[in-house]
Formats: sequence, C-alpha cells, structure tokens
Amino acid sequence: MKYAIIGTGNISNTYARAIAEMPGSEISACVSRSGNRLKAGPDIPVFPDLDSITTDFDAVIVATPNGLHCEGIIAAAKRGKHVITEKPLGIRVDEMEQAIAACEAANVTLAVAYQRRTAPDNRAVKALIEKGALGNIFAADLAAKFYRDQAYYDSADYRGGLSIDGGGPFMQQAAHNIDIYAWFFGLPEQVVSLMGTFTHKMEAEDHGAALLKYSNGMIGTIIASTSTKPGYAARLEVHSDKGSFTMTDDAITQWHFDDVPNPGNSDFQYRHDGATSAVVSDTSAHQKIIADFERVVEQGGTPIADAHSAKATSTLILEIYGSALT
Ligand SMILES: NC(=O)c1ccc[n+]([C@@H]2O[C@H](COP(=O)([O-])OP(=O)(O)OC[C@H]3O[C@@H](n4cnc5c(N)ncnc54)[C@H](OP(=O)(O)O)[C@@H]3O)[C@@H](O)[C@H]2O)c1
Repeated sequence: MKYAIIGTGNISNTYARAIAEMPGSEISACVSRSGNRLKAGPDIPVFPDLDSITTDFDAVIVATPNGLHCEGIIAAAKRGKHVITEKPLGIRVDEMEQAIAACEAANVTLAVAYQRRTAPDNRAVKALIEKGALGNIFAADLAAKFYRDQAYYDSADYRGGLSIDGGGPFMQQAAHNIDIYAWFFGLPEQVVSLMGTFTHKMEAEDHGAALLKYSNGMIGTIIASTSTKPGYAARLEVHSDKGSFTMTDDAITQWHFDDVPNPGNSDFQYRHDGATSAVVSDTSAHQKIIADFERVVEQGGTPIADAHSAKATSTLILEIYGSALT
C-alpha cells in the first residue's frame, strides 16, 4: 500500500516510523503547506496539497489538526483514495456526516486512528460487555487526568483553541479514553458537565467533569484534564451487580467477578506517553491500525475503529461541551 500523508508534524513522524517497519507499505508523498519534510522520512517528496501529488499512491493518511480532518477525508474521497484519519474523526457533526457520505459515495474505506481499541484487554472487555457477561453495569468512572505545560499550548497557534483543535482535553488528549468509554457503553441519554481553564493561557478548557445518565440507568462520570500535574495514567472503574473491574491505561488492573475469569493479557506491552506528552513513541498500536486498514481495503469488512463509531465518540464529546456551555 502506498500512502500520501497530509501533515509532516508530530504524529506524521510516528506514521513514518511505523510504516518504515511494515514490509509492503510505504509513504510515497507528503503534503505540507510550508514545504516541511518528514523528519523520519526526509527523502519523501513534499507537495503543497493532495491535488498536486505526482507520485503514485493508493491511500491517504490525514494527520493535520483536528478541525481539518474532514476536509482531508473529503479531498481523498474525491480522488477515489482510501483514508486513515487521525482522531478525532471531526469536531462538528455536520462535517463528520459529510466526510462519511463522501467516502460512502466514492466506495472507499475510512478508518480512524483510535489505536487503543487494538489493545487486547480493551477488546476482551468489549466482547464481554456485548455478550452481557458482566451483568448490569450501573457505574463507569473514567479519570483522564493528564498534564501538558504551557509550552505545549504555545508550540502552535491552533493548540488549545476552539476553531481548529475543537476544545481542550475532552476533544484532544482524552478523546482516546472517551472513545473506549463510548465503544464500551454507547451514548448516554443525558449529560451534565462543568469545565474551566485553570492553569494555562488558552481558549478552551484545561479541566472538566461530566456526569452521564444512560437509558439502562447507568450513571457515568468522565474527568478530562491537562492541568493535573504531573499527569497520571488514565483510570476506568466499572461496577455491576455481578462485580467490578479497573483498567489503568489499556490494561485490566483489578478484576472481581466470581463467575467470569479475568480476560487480561499480562504479556501485552505498550509504552504510553499520553499522560504527559503529545509524542507517540511506541508505533506498535498505529501499526495495528494500519495493518487492519489494509486488511479491510483488500478483503472488505469494517475497520477496528470505523467512522460511525468514531463519530459517536465525537458526538459524546460535543454533548459534554454543549452542557458546559449552557
Ligand atoms: N493517535 C494519537 O495517539 C495521536 C497523538 C498525537 C496527535 N494525534 C492527532 O494528530 C493530529 C495532528 O497532531 P500533531 O501533534 O501531529 O500536530 P502538529 O505537530 O502541529 O502537525 C500538524 C500538521 O498539520 C499541518 N497543517 C495543515 N494545515 C494546518 C493548519 N491550518 N494549522 C496547523 N497545522 C496545519 C502542518 O503542516 P504544514 O503547516 O506544513 O502544512 C503540520 O505538519 C491531531 O488531530 C491530533 O489529535 C493523534
């Protein structure tokens, strides 16, 4: 698979390192408005936009800031190219609907880089919840208490803004954890939230909390922050009438069910940077997203993180923002 990547910044270099280790895959072009080259692929030719690319490519990776994902997806679909987009799928419902429609009309695959869905413990828990094996879940509490310093927000004009980043930690850093939450539990019927900007000079929130009510009665809580120094591993605590479990990042750390064995895979190794850094140094989960995408392009099926479920994640985040505003 030959890829054109839109963006040459932080996560684009993760893709360049990931794809360099994948036989049969390569990046044949990148797009940069400013003519920047990929640090991890300095020989890859650079073009100012997708339409100017003269090298051959089969698929597009959209690695621009959040609010530009959907326009990149639509540009790729117009050229009849399959797409992997970075998370979130989008920061507005209408743009996500247009991007999904463009890919469906062009009959191209659209996958979203919610790479935490590839973690074996997350997949095992998802399967048990779908089977109803964990009983009636009445509480699910996510704490995504991360830390970014002011230099991170100052490193680009758009960071921490509403128009392009689409928000603070709910839309950006904790989107991965909220994605797992929505993947496990779906969308709530009621959301109440509070948020503020406490420790940074930035337009969006840097800390907040949401209270969710589900149609089955489940009460959920989500805390998302980039103000909680020094930055903690994300923690999810889930309780049902049958028992409880706790996950720290993507691993099951406590399991208390009498009749369901702990499905945790203790061999799983992944280096998490997200609590304190935007850099994804461990490329293995991105490689799984890319390999899964290539499988779907070649054989059909649905990507691990498909567009509709990724749209649900953004929709939940937008509902959390909507409540805070009112
Ligand atoms: N999956 C993960 O774990 C993960 C981790 C980090 C980031 N991400 C996601 O990856 C995306 C990019 O993040 P990043 O950290 O790589 O950002 P970044 O370092 O700022 O890179 C953004 C890239 O987009 C290009 N760009 C095009 N239009 C732009 C505009 N109007 N403003 C700013 N840049 C523009 C920039 O290149 P030119 O200016 O040269 O065009 C730059 O190469 C975000 O959506 C983020 O959520 C995901």
